[in-house]
Amino acid sequence: MSDAKISFRTGQGGLPLVRVETGESTADIYLQGAHVTHFQRHGEKPLLFMSRASVFEAGKPIRGGVPVILPWFGPREGKPPHGFARLHAWQLLEAGLSPTQGTRLRFRLPNVPEMQEWPRFVAEFIVDAGHALDLELKVTNVDDTRPLPLETCLHTYFAVGDIARTEVRGLRGARYLDNLDGLREKPETAEAISFSGEVDRVYVHTADTVEVVDRAWGRVISVAKAGSLSTVVWNPWIAKAQRMPDFGDDEYLRMVCVESGNVKTNAASLPPGQSATFAVTLDSREL
Ligand code: BG6
Repeated sequence: MSDAKISFRTGQGGLPLVRVETGESTADIYLQGAHVTHFQRHGEKPLLFMSRASVFEAGKPIRGGVPVILPWFGPREGKPPHGFARLHAWQLLEAGLSPTQGTRLRFRLPNVPEMQEWPRFVAEFIVDAGHALDLELKVTNVDDTRPLPLETCLHTYFAVGDIARTEVRGLRGARYLDNLDGLREKPETAEAISFSGEVDRVYVHTADTVEVVDRAWGRVISVAKAGSLSTVVWNPWIAKAQRMPDFGDDEYLRMVCVESGNVKTNAASLPPGQSATFAVTLDSREL
């Protein structure tokens, strides 16, 4: 018998959230953005970083956890960065046990005003929290005639003990677009990417598992992907942290974003009637 529990609560800023408690872990998911803000295995450190300065307000992005980014990634002239999906409350369509004895929540982005400028599409997000955190994002073009230009990303913020003793592994040999150098394409030659300044890179055509090695907490986080070709690695470091109003000045020390999705070179153009799905499994083990 599973002892999983799902409860509906009022979260920060009065925003509604769903709390999931299973025999192995606890997770919080805000309806705004279908945003996982917390996942923690019992007796372990939280997997996800959340900024203490995050805003919790309808229509404003949450800083930390797993922002769901679509239908575009990054800045866009006259529009909010990273699309509009993270700015709206999603509907919870289904909540129940998952085959792994975790809990499975299925969310859907309702029809929001910004969609009027887009070919008609349906976005669904499945959160399966148990031993690991499994996330799946599915977008279907339901427009009769127009293709859907689409970028998707799960902009995952991981909690680490000390960024100076953290490495990202699994990207050697890939090419990345360097956001700090006008998106110039460069080869990744390092087996282990370490952090001693701002890093903001989109690795393209990267389907394999990426790992975050956190020596301070003695933990290895793994990001296993299916259907996702892009991996974004981001840490704002000192100056950008200071410029971000919803991020503490010293918080860059305790986080790293390793984001999965299909962006930039890996963006899709979905023909009418077709879906694009990708999934990630976020897991961890002792170093
Ligand atoms: C990353 C981008 O994915 O998201 C960065 O590569 C950006 O350039 C970061 O600063 C955070 O974006 P936002 O819109 O949540 O502040």
